Amino acid sequence: MTLAAHAAGDPKRGAQVFRQCMACHSVAAGEQMTGPSLAHIWNRKAGSVEGFLRYSDPMKRADVVWNEATLDQWLSNPAAFLPGTSMTFPGLKQSQARQDLIAYLKAVAGGKAPPAQRGGKLDLRKAPPEGQVTSIKHCGDTYTVDTADGRSQKVWEFNLRFKTDTSKLGPAPGKPVVVGAGMQGDRASIVFATPKEISESIKHACP
Ligand code: HEC
Repeated sequence: MTLAAHAAGDPKRGAQVFRQCMACHSVAAGEQMTGPSLAHIWNRKAGSVEGFLRYSDPMKRADVVWNEATLDQWLSNPAAFLPGTSMTFPGLKQSQARQDLIAYLKAVAGGKAPPAQRGGKLDLRKAPPEGQVTSIKHCGDTYTVDTADGRSQKVWEFNLRFKTDTSKLGPAPGKPVVVGAGMQGDRASIVFATPKEISESIKHACP
């Protein structure tokens, strides 16, 4: 490989590569998902993003600072670089893709990132009427879920999931939201502002 070909990664291309990370990571500061926010990862000690509560013990103990060299090794094979990590990602085998991605993460930290497609989480406070849950009733093995668009749907209890999102993108207190395929199809998730709201919101009521 020539020196030129080996040289700088391209942050624009890196933004495309980052799509492979977006299911688990956001580059918005403070937005924690399955993995920590990568907004300020550059030159930071591994396992030290504030507000991320799910680091594995090996990551917390790792004596690593994120830079070109360490990120290159990590991203080529996370499990080999840090045995026991909870990042279930097989690694990027292409050196150029890693270089581009690293250039992108560096640009992100410097506030100069080319816009990536906005992935990650939706702002649940802006849910459309068909997502806004107005009542949840339980009878026998069935939930009846009413939404602000005036619809009322019956769902088998085994197919309804209850989740919480306490982040700033989560629903407003007392305003649970249906996500995913919504109430269409045979299964759905309802997201609440806090765990306490879940049982408080579900009324036992038989027609
Ligand atoms: C399936 C989910 C998932 C995917 C996909 C994923 N990650 Fe992660 N990532 C995690 C988790 C979980 C952690 C925390 C690992 C631990 O604590 O062991 C993490 C940790 C990291 C860290 C260390 C953060 C810190 O605070 O020290 C970096 C850097 C990172 N990921 C980058 C990436 C990049 C870049 C990609 C895309 C190529 C990616 N990850 C893909 C889940 C994921």
